[in-house]
Amino acid sequence: MTRLSVNINKVALLRNARGGNLPNLVQVARDCEIFGAEGITVHPRPDQRHVRFDDIPALRAVVTTEFNIEGNPTPEFLDLVLANPPHQCTLVPDATDQLTSDHGWDTLRHADFLRDVTATLHQKGIRVSLFVDPDPRMVEGAKATGADRVELYTGPYTHDFSGDPARAMAPYTEAALAANALGIGLNAGHDLNMDNLRYFQEHCPGLLEVSIGHALLADALYYGLANTIRMYRRLLAGNP
Ligand code: PXP
Repeated sequence: MTRLSVNINKVALLRNARGGNLPNLVQVARDCEIFGAEGITVHPRPDQRHVRFDDIPALRAVVTTEFNIEGNPTPEFLDLVLANPPHQCTLVPDATDQLTSDHGWDTLRHADFLRDVTATLHQKGIRVSLFVDPDPRMVEGAKATGADRVELYTGPYTHDFSGDPARAMAPYTEAALAANALGIGLNAGHDLNMDNLRYFQEHCPGLLEVSIGHALLADALYYGLANTIRMYRRLLAGNP
């Protein structure tokens, strides 16, 4: 079974647009869980335009499924994560002013750094996942750092899916098989949506978790949050 973690960054973006507390991020996180989310993901970026650093303690206190904090492991980010230990921390090599994550780690070149950060997070009992492109060498490199999981960056798959799904998917299946053989867990995310999710999951053996934000919240404008989460859960359960 693949778990659905709902990324609530865009809810925070909407709240921040007016400076008040509408929508209430903590209430939305709670409600996502009530509606069937199996995890809550946040990505506090350095410019804090989405989820802010000071949102994290309250979210950590209410999330009862799986709390996943994503981000670039700067000293500030690591302090935040260590002070509010989530179930999982996904390390992402994004730049300070990046619009959205668009590539994975070079786990070979940054092996020493990633090994140190992973060990630090493990001391607090935090599961570590590394965001990587679908390249078996990067998966192998991730395994060597001691990380527990990789999150495959699905941007290129979602971009190419409508043209030739089989071709778009091939590198992901290969990376998934490499992860399974190495015994490292497998997550995926970025631009997954109701059209491309089912095919991805069917061809990605051992997929433990997807984190989905942008498309899911856009769908919620039409279907409502409760229906939308149920629809994504149904897709992941094999019921279109
Ligand atoms: N995984 C990572 C590492 C991300 O940075 C993001 C976007 O914040 C996602 C998954 C979710 O992507 P989307 O919002 O396109 O579903």
